[in-house]
Amino acid sequence: MKNIKLGLLGLGTVGSGVLQMVRQNADKILDVTGCKLTVKTALVRNLDNYTKYAAETSLTTDFDEILNDDEIKIVVELMGGIHPAKEYITTLLKNHKNVVTANKDLIASYGPELMAVAHENHCDLMFEASVAGGIPILRTIANSFTADKVTEVKGIVNGTTNYILTQMSQQGWSYHQALAQAQQLGFAESDPTNDVTGKDAAYKMIILSQFAFGTQLDIKDIAVEGIDRLNDADVQQAAAFGYVIKLLGIAKLVNNGVFVEVGPVLIPRDHPLATINNEFNAVMVTAQAVGDTLFYGRGAGGLPTANSVLSDITTVTKNIILGTNGNLFNNYQQPYIPAKLAD
Ligand code: HSE
Repeated sequence: MKNIKLGLLGLGTVGSGVLQMVRQNADKILDVTGCKLTVKTALVRNLDNYTKYAAETSLTTDFDEILNDDEIKIVVELMGGIHPAKEYITTLLKNHKNVVTANKDLIASYGPELMAVAHENHCDLMFEASVAGGIPILRTIANSFTADKVTEVKGIVNGTTNYILTQMSQQGWSYHQALAQAQQLGFAESDPTNDVTGKDAAYKMIILSQFAFGTQLDIKDIAVEGIDRLNDADVQQAAAFGYVIKLLGIAKLVNNGVFVEVGPVLIPRDHPLATINNEFNAVMVTAQAVGDTLFYGRGAGGLPTANSVLSDITTVTKNIILGTNGNLFNNYQQPYIPAKLAD
Protein backbone atom coordinates (compact mmCIF):
# COMPACT_ATOMS: atom_id res chain seq x y z
CA MET A 1 0.00 0.00 0.00
CA LYS A 2 1.30 3.41 -1.01
CA ASN A 3 1.03 6.33 1.37
CA ILE A 4 0.34 9.67 -0.38
CA LYS A 5 0.86 12.84 1.64
CA LEU A 6 -1.15 15.99 1.02
CA GLY A 7 -0.58 19.62 1.90
CA LEU A 8 -3.48 22.02 2.47
CA LEU A 9 -3.38 25.76 1.87
CA GLY A 10 -6.23 27.10 4.02
CA LEU A 11 -8.23 25.41 6.72
CA GLY A 12 -11.60 27.19 6.57
CA THR A 13 -15.01 25.66 5.86
CA VAL A 14 -13.91 23.58 2.85
CA GLY A 15 -10.41 22.81 4.21
CA SER A 16 -11.80 21.34 7.41
CA GLY A 17 -14.37 19.39 5.31
CA VAL A 18 -11.47 17.91 3.28
CA LEU A 19 -9.63 16.98 6.47
CA GLN A 20 -12.76 15.33 7.86
CA MET A 21 -13.42 13.35 4.66
CA VAL A 22 -9.82 12.17 4.28
CA ARG A 23 -9.92 10.85 7.84
CA GLN A 24 -13.45 9.44 7.98
CA ASN A 25 -13.53 7.93 4.50
CA ALA A 26 -10.02 6.48 4.53
CA ASP A 27 -11.25 2.93 3.84
CA LYS A 28 -13.27 3.93 0.76
CA ILE A 29 -10.33 6.02 -0.53
CA LEU A 30 -8.04 3.02 -0.03
CA ASP A 31 -10.45 0.79 -1.96
CA VAL A 32 -10.69 3.24 -4.85
CA THR A 33 -7.05 4.29 -5.17
CA GLY A 34 -5.06 1.58 -3.40
CA CYS A 35 -3.45 4.39 -1.39
CA LYS A 36 -3.64 5.72 2.11
CA LEU A 37 -4.00 9.50 2.02
CA THR A 38 -2.79 11.68 4.87
CA VAL A 39 -2.98 15.46 5.21
CA LYS A 40 0.56 16.02 6.43
CA THR A 41 0.70 19.82 6.72
CA ALA A 42 -1.80 22.68 6.57
CA LEU A 43 -0.95 26.32 5.96
CA VAL A 44 -3.00 28.63 8.21
CA ARG A 45 -2.86 32.33 9.05
CA ASN A 46 -2.88 31.95 12.82
CA LEU A 47 -1.72 28.74 14.50
CA ASP A 48 -3.71 29.39 17.69
CA ASN A 49 -7.08 29.18 15.89
CA TYR A 50 -6.54 25.62 14.67
CA THR A 51 -5.02 23.65 17.57
CA LYS A 52 -7.86 21.08 17.46
CA TYR A 53 -6.50 19.84 14.10
CA ALA A 54 -2.89 19.55 15.24
CA ALA A 55 -2.99 15.91 16.40
CA GLU A 56 -2.64 14.33 12.94
CA THR A 57 -1.82 17.31 10.72
CA SER A 58 1.02 19.69 11.39
CA LEU A 59 0.15 23.36 11.09
CA THR A 60 2.39 26.02 9.66
CA THR A 61 2.29 29.68 8.68
CA ASP A 62 5.20 29.15 6.26
CA PHE A 63 4.30 28.18 2.66
CA ASP A 64 7.89 27.01 2.04
CA GLU A 65 7.43 24.22 4.54
CA ILE A 66 4.89 22.62 2.18
CA LEU A 67 6.76 23.60 -1.01
CA ASN A 68 10.03 22.05 0.16
CA ASP A 69 8.55 18.87 1.63
CA ASP A 70 9.41 16.13 -0.87
CA GLU A 71 6.93 13.75 0.76
CA ILE A 72 3.98 16.00 -0.18
CA LYS A 73 2.80 15.03 -3.66
CA ILE A 74 -0.56 16.87 -3.84
CA VAL A 75 -1.31 20.36 -2.55
CA VAL A 76 -4.91 21.49 -2.11
CA GLU A 77 -5.37 25.26 -2.44
CA LEU A 78 -8.42 26.54 -0.57
CA MET A 79 -7.38 30.08 0.32
CA GLY A 80 -9.42 31.72 -2.45
CA GLY A 81 -8.65 35.00 -4.21
CA ILE A 82 -6.15 35.51 -7.01
CA HIS A 83 -3.09 36.61 -5.03
CA PRO A 84 -1.08 34.96 -3.59
CA ALA A 85 -2.90 31.79 -4.76
CA LYS A 86 -1.63 32.23 -8.34
CA GLU A 87 1.99 32.63 -7.28
CA TYR A 88 1.75 29.70 -4.85
CA ILE A 89 0.17 27.37 -7.43
CA THR A 90 2.67 28.36 -10.14
CA THR A 91 5.59 27.72 -7.79
CA LEU A 92 4.12 24.41 -6.63
CA LEU A 93 3.61 23.17 -10.22
CA LYS A 94 7.13 24.24 -11.20
CA ASN A 95 8.34 22.18 -8.24
CA HIS A 96 6.45 19.16 -9.56
CA LYS A 97 3.64 19.15 -7.04
CA ASN A 98 0.15 18.32 -8.26
CA VAL A 99 -2.47 20.89 -7.32
CA VAL A 100 -6.18 20.65 -6.58
CA THR A 101 -8.07 23.91 -6.08
CA ALA A 102 -11.59 25.25 -5.57
CA ASN A 103 -10.53 28.73 -6.65
CA LYS A 104 -12.96 29.98 -9.32
CA ASP A 105 -11.59 33.54 -9.43
CA LEU A 106 -8.17 32.17 -10.28
CA ILE A 107 -9.22 29.43 -12.71
CA ALA A 108 -11.62 31.73 -14.55
CA SER A 109 -8.88 34.34 -14.94
CA TYR A 110 -5.72 32.24 -15.43
CA GLY A 111 -6.87 28.63 -16.01
CA PRO A 112 -5.21 28.04 -19.41
CA GLU A 113 -1.94 29.68 -18.31
CA LEU A 114 -1.78 27.52 -15.18
CA MET A 115 -2.76 24.38 -17.10
CA ALA A 116 0.16 24.98 -19.45
CA VAL A 117 2.54 25.24 -16.47
CA ALA A 118 1.07 22.01 -15.07
CA HIS A 119 1.49 20.22 -18.39
CA GLU A 120 5.09 21.42 -18.85
CA ASN A 121 5.95 20.08 -15.41
CA HIS A 122 4.07 16.76 -15.78
CA CYS A 123 1.67 17.68 -13.00
CA ASP A 124 -2.10 17.69 -12.62
CA LEU A 125 -4.09 20.84 -11.87
CA MET A 126 -7.71 19.98 -11.09
CA PHE A 127 -10.60 22.19 -9.96
CA GLU A 128 -13.96 20.41 -9.95
CA ALA A 129 -14.94 22.24 -6.74
CA SER A 130 -14.55 25.64 -8.39
CA VAL A 131 -18.03 25.41 -9.97
CA ALA A 132 -21.30 24.51 -8.25
CA GLY A 133 -19.75 23.07 -5.06
CA GLY A 134 -20.83 19.45 -4.76
CA ILE A 135 -22.23 18.98 -8.28
CA PRO A 136 -19.68 17.09 -10.44
CA ILE A 137 -20.42 19.32 -13.40
CA LEU A 138 -16.98 19.85 -14.97
CA ARG A 139 -16.28 16.12 -15.22
CA THR A 140 -19.73 15.61 -16.63
CA ILE A 141 -19.43 18.24 -19.35
CA ALA A 142 -15.91 17.11 -20.28
CA ASN A 143 -16.60 13.39 -20.28
CA SER A 144 -20.26 12.99 -21.17
CA PHE A 145 -20.78 15.52 -23.95
CA THR A 146 -17.68 14.59 -25.92
CA ALA A 147 -19.40 14.11 -29.25
CA ASP A 148 -22.56 16.14 -28.75
CA LYS A 149 -22.61 19.87 -29.47
CA VAL A 150 -23.46 21.87 -26.35
CA THR A 151 -25.57 24.90 -27.24
CA GLU A 152 -26.39 26.33 -23.81
CA VAL A 153 -25.38 26.06 -20.15
CA LYS A 154 -27.50 27.91 -17.65
CA GLY A 155 -28.38 27.73 -14.02
CA ILE A 156 -28.09 28.75 -10.42
CA VAL A 157 -24.39 28.60 -9.60
CA ASN A 158 -24.13 30.64 -6.41
CA GLY A 159 -25.39 29.08 -3.19
CA THR A 160 -25.22 32.22 -1.05
CA THR A 161 -27.51 34.30 -3.24
CA ASN A 162 -29.91 31.41 -3.72
CA TYR A 163 -30.05 30.97 0.05
CA ILE A 164 -30.71 34.70 0.51
CA LEU A 165 -33.45 34.80 -2.14
CA THR A 166 -35.08 31.67 -0.70
CA GLN A 167 -35.19 33.12 2.83
CA MET A 168 -36.48 36.47 1.59
CA SER A 169 -39.31 34.91 -0.40
CA GLN A 170 -40.26 31.99 1.85
CA GLN A 171 -39.49 33.28 5.37
CA GLY A 172 -39.92 37.02 4.86
CA TRP A 173 -36.36 37.65 6.06
CA SER A 174 -34.59 40.87 5.12
CA TYR A 175 -31.68 40.75 2.67
CA HIS A 176 -29.16 41.55 5.44
CA GLN A 177 -30.58 38.99 7.86
CA ALA A 178 -30.39 36.28 5.19
CA LEU A 179 -26.85 37.28 4.14
CA ALA A 180 -25.66 37.14 7.76
CA GLN A 181 -27.10 33.63 8.09
CA ALA A 182 -25.49 32.51 4.79
CA GLN A 183 -22.17 33.69 6.18
CA GLN A 184 -22.81 31.93 9.48
CA LEU A 185 -23.55 28.66 7.63
CA GLY A 186 -20.29 28.87 5.66
CA PHE A 187 -21.88 29.37 2.22
CA ALA A 188 -20.53 32.87 1.52
CA GLU A 189 -16.98 33.82 0.57
CA SER A 190 -14.94 35.35 3.42
CA ASP A 191 -15.76 38.69 1.77
CA PRO A 192 -19.28 38.12 0.34
CA THR A 193 -19.04 41.00 -2.16
CA ASN A 194 -18.42 38.67 -5.12
CA ASP A 195 -21.37 36.48 -4.10
CA VAL A 196 -23.97 39.25 -3.93
CA THR A 197 -22.73 41.28 -6.90
CA GLY A 198 -22.86 38.26 -9.22
CA LYS A 199 -19.10 38.17 -9.81
CA ASP A 200 -18.71 34.72 -8.20
CA ALA A 201 -21.40 33.35 -10.53
CA ALA A 202 -19.73 35.09 -13.50
CA TYR A 203 -16.39 33.39 -12.74
CA LYS A 204 -18.19 30.05 -12.63
CA MET A 205 -19.91 30.77 -15.96
CA ILE A 206 -16.50 31.54 -17.50
CA ILE A 207 -15.24 28.12 -16.39
CA LEU A 208 -18.42 26.39 -17.58
CA SER A 209 -18.04 28.15 -20.95
CA GLN A 210 -14.47 26.89 -21.21
CA PHE A 211 -15.70 23.34 -20.74
CA ALA A 212 -18.85 23.64 -22.85
CA PHE A 213 -17.55 25.77 -25.70
CA GLY A 214 -13.74 25.90 -25.38
CA THR A 215 -13.77 29.68 -25.01
CA GLN A 216 -11.64 31.82 -22.71
CA LEU A 217 -13.71 34.82 -21.67
CA ASP A 218 -12.76 37.74 -19.48
CA ILE A 219 -15.12 38.86 -16.74
CA LYS A 220 -15.21 42.25 -18.51
CA ASP A 221 -16.87 40.50 -21.49
CA ILE A 222 -19.88 39.54 -19.37
CA ALA A 223 -22.92 41.55 -18.35
CA VAL A 224 -23.07 40.95 -14.59
CA GLU A 225 -25.74 42.08 -12.15
CA GLY A 226 -26.13 40.78 -8.61
CA ILE A 227 -28.90 40.74 -6.02
CA ASP A 228 -27.45 43.50 -3.86
CA ARG A 229 -29.87 46.05 -5.27
CA LEU A 230 -33.00 43.93 -4.85
CA ASN A 231 -35.27 44.71 -1.94
CA ASP A 232 -38.00 42.86 -0.03
CA ALA A 233 -40.73 44.50 -2.14
CA ASP A 234 -39.20 43.16 -5.41
CA VAL A 235 -39.25 39.63 -4.04
CA GLN A 236 -42.79 39.89 -2.64
CA GLN A 237 -44.13 41.47 -5.83
CA ALA A 238 -42.63 38.68 -7.96
CA ALA A 239 -44.37 36.14 -5.70
CA ALA A 240 -47.70 37.96 -6.03
CA PHE A 241 -47.51 37.48 -9.82
CA GLY A 242 -46.56 33.77 -9.60
CA TYR A 243 -42.81 34.17 -10.12
CA VAL A 244 -39.66 33.68 -8.09
CA ILE A 245 -36.48 35.67 -8.53
CA LYS A 246 -33.33 33.61 -9.10
CA LEU A 247 -29.80 34.72 -9.89
CA LEU A 248 -29.16 32.94 -13.19
CA GLY A 249 -26.01 32.49 -15.18
CA ILE A 250 -26.55 31.88 -18.89
CA ALA A 251 -23.94 30.94 -21.49
CA LYS A 252 -25.09 30.14 -25.00
CA LEU A 253 -23.88 29.81 -28.54
CA VAL A 254 -25.01 32.74 -30.64
CA ASN A 255 -24.01 32.52 -34.29
CA ASN A 256 -20.32 31.64 -33.99
CA GLY A 257 -19.80 33.34 -30.64
CA VAL A 258 -20.66 32.68 -27.02
CA PHE A 259 -22.93 35.03 -25.09
CA VAL A 260 -22.71 34.99 -21.29
CA GLU A 261 -24.65 36.96 -18.70
CA VAL A 262 -25.44 36.81 -15.00
CA GLY A 263 -28.38 38.53 -13.36
CA PRO A 264 -31.60 38.21 -11.38
CA VAL A 265 -34.37 36.68 -13.49
CA LEU A 266 -38.12 36.25 -12.94
CA ILE A 267 -38.92 32.56 -13.26
CA PRO A 268 -42.45 31.09 -13.32
CA ARG A 269 -43.10 29.25 -10.06
CA ASP A 270 -43.54 25.86 -11.79
CA HIS A 271 -40.27 25.98 -13.80
CA PRO A 272 -37.68 23.40 -12.56
CA LEU A 273 -35.15 26.15 -11.73
CA ALA A 274 -37.75 27.93 -9.56
CA THR A 275 -37.81 24.92 -7.23
CA ILE A 276 -34.08 25.06 -6.45
CA ASN A 277 -33.88 26.48 -2.94
CA ASN A 278 -31.43 27.44 -0.20
CA GLU A 279 -27.76 26.77 -0.97
CA PHE A 280 -28.60 24.29 -3.71
CA ASN A 281 -27.42 24.88 -7.27
CA ALA A 282 -28.71 23.50 -10.55
CA VAL A 283 -27.01 23.52 -13.94
CA MET A 284 -28.95 22.81 -17.11
CA VAL A 285 -26.80 21.69 -20.04
CA THR A 286 -28.48 21.66 -23.43
CA ALA A 287 -26.88 19.86 -26.35
CA GLN A 288 -28.05 19.07 -29.87
CA ALA A 289 -28.42 15.30 -29.59
CA VAL A 290 -29.38 14.85 -25.95
CA GLY A 291 -31.52 17.98 -25.47
CA ASP A 292 -31.88 19.32 -21.90
CA THR A 293 -30.07 17.73 -18.96
CA LEU A 294 -30.27 19.04 -15.39
CA PHE A 295 -27.73 18.60 -12.61
CA TYR A 296 -28.69 19.45 -9.04
CA GLY A 297 -26.98 19.49 -5.65
CA ARG A 298 -25.52 21.54 -2.84
CA GLY A 299 -23.54 24.38 -4.38
CA ALA A 300 -21.81 25.61 -1.24
CA GLY A 301 -20.78 24.36 2.19
CA GLY A 302 -17.86 22.43 3.64
CA LEU A 303 -18.62 18.75 3.04
CA PRO A 304 -20.39 19.01 -0.36
CA THR A 305 -17.50 21.06 -1.75
CA ALA A 306 -14.97 18.78 -0.05
CA ASN A 307 -16.50 15.83 -1.93
CA SER A 308 -15.61 17.52 -5.23
CA VAL A 309 -12.11 18.30 -3.95
CA LEU A 310 -11.71 14.65 -2.95
CA SER A 311 -12.84 13.45 -6.38
CA ASP A 312 -9.95 15.44 -7.85
CA ILE A 313 -7.52 14.24 -5.17
CA THR A 314 -8.37 10.62 -5.90
CA THR A 315 -7.99 11.21 -9.67
CA VAL A 316 -4.56 12.76 -9.10
CA THR A 317 -3.65 9.88 -6.76
CA LYS A 318 -4.51 7.32 -9.45
CA ASN A 319 -2.40 9.29 -11.92
CA ILE A 320 0.53 9.20 -9.46
CA ILE A 321 0.22 5.41 -9.29
CA LEU A 322 0.04 5.17 -13.10
CA GLY A 323 2.75 7.80 -13.65
CA THR A 324 0.41 9.78 -15.87
CA ASN A 325 0.24 13.18 -14.14
CA GLY A 326 0.07 16.08 -16.56
CA ASN A 327 -1.31 13.90 -19.32
CA LEU A 328 -4.01 16.20 -20.66
CA PHE A 329 -6.05 13.33 -22.05
CA ASN A 330 -6.19 11.51 -18.77
CA ASN A 331 -8.88 13.41 -16.89
CA TYR A 332 -11.33 16.23 -17.44
CA GLN A 333 -8.82 18.75 -18.68
CA GLN A 334 -9.36 18.35 -22.41
CA PRO A 335 -10.95 21.76 -23.06
CA TYR A 336 -7.80 23.40 -21.80
CA ILE A 337 -5.47 21.88 -24.37
CA PRO A 338 -3.84 24.85 -26.05
CA ALA A 339 -3.57 24.14 -29.77
CA LYS A 340 0.23 24.08 -29.69
CA LEU A 341 0.25 21.34 -27.02
CA ALA A 342 -2.33 19.23 -28.85
CA ASP A 343 -0.31 19.09 -32.10
N1 HSE B 1 -19.68 31.40 -2.03
C1 HSE B 1 -19.90 30.37 -2.98
C2 HSE B 1 -21.38 30.20 -3.19
C3 HSE B 1 -19.26 29.10 -2.49
O1 HSE B 1 -22.15 30.71 -2.37
O2 HSE B 1 -21.81 29.58 -4.15
C4 HSE B 1 -19.22 28.01 -3.51
O3 HSE B 1 -18.49 28.39 -4.64
